[in-house]
Amino acid sequence: MGEVDPAFVQDIQHRPKLATIEAEGIPLINLNSVLNSADAVSEASLVSDVGDACKKWGFFQVINHGVPLEKREKLEKAAKDFFDQPLEEKVKIRRDEMRVSGYYDSEHTKNVRDWKEVFDFTVQNPTIVPASTRPDNKQVAEWHNQWPEYPPQLREACEEYAGEVEKLSFKLMELIALSLGLPADSFNGFFKDQTSFVRLNHYPPCPAPELALGVGRHKDAGGLTVLAQDDVGGLEVKRKSDGEWIRVKPTPNAFIINVGDIIQVWSNERYESVEHRVMVNSEKERFSIPFFFNPAHYTMIKPLEELTREENPARYRPYNWGNFLVTRKGSNFKKLDVENIQIYHFRISESELANRLEKAESVA
Ligand code: OGA
Ligand code: NI
Repeated sequence: MGEVDPAFVQDIQHRPKLATIEAEGIPLINLNSVLNSADAVSEASLVSDVGDACKKWGFFQVINHGVPLEKREKLEKAAKDFFDQPLEEKVKIRRDEMRVSGYYDSEHTKNVRDWKEVFDFTVQNPTIVPASTRPDNKQVAEWHNQWPEYPPQLREACEEYAGEVEKLSFKLMELIALSLGLPADSFNGFFKDQTSFVRLNHYPPCPAPELALGVGRHKDAGGLTVLAQDDVGGLEVKRKSDGEWIRVKPTPNAFIINVGDIIQVWSNERYESVEHRVMVNSEKERFSIPFFFNPAHYTMIKPLEELTREENPARYRPYNWGNFLVTRKGSNFKKLDVENIQIYHFRISESELANRLEKAESVA
């Protein structure tokens, strides 16, 4: 990517601090008991650990998660071989507005270019989505994956890995449901025709790591993210207690889990999706692989009825996930004049909530 083009330069207030805080990190949770079941007591403590982590951080790491290490290593190797190729090879499967899967090196987060290149594929192939961003248009379209010629084993590595991480994602959603006091399978139905996708991220060394970011600050828009990061490190999470950026220390063979915007809405803000960003460095390239676990396109996202009460009314108006997703995908291609679509566009204002509460009280 050569010199640091001004398109990559962050505004002063968003530039990373090179001296990072490694402080008390995000919680580390051992999933062993859920996999080898039978042990009801430790399962209860696991559920409460997951709930505490979601509440306090919106992020945690898991070990003994059941995803075979060799599947992850096979994909990491194939990803490196793919990105090691010259640009003219990679752009043969370039993403565009019609084909959202494939190679891409100019994503902007909050209108600043990210110092990275990516390869995206969807977990269902094809993935069914709305044909247009307009909610009144009921037509659907299919997203098809694009696979490179080289390395030939990339496709198989991607598909096997996605299958394993999908199983883990369902388990995690069960733990999250239990932690909210709901039946374990409460969320399963939403993911039947999932729109999940996996991204292979490559962050090349950057000559100006104090000016640019691998990914600018953002929240993940979907349900849950399961991230594999290598041993280089660079992911930073905004600590809820004081707004400090905290570096997530790499743990070998762990996954980093974070709550996305959809869980924030489903849980009526019992859990919140948390801002994070990626620092780059001038010496080492870094690889990471997020799995974005997303519901079916036709899902109307709204607070679960079990989690709202008269005194705690729904804080969001329902929105259609497919329309949200295609609006986002379309807008990632360009610098926008307006802000990207965000869940707070569906947030019911505090004054409106207070109004509703008052009405409910006067009726009671
Ligand atoms: C993302 C993301 C983190 C990382 O792609 O949404 O937050 O460490 N990635 O690559
Ligand atoms: Ni993210």
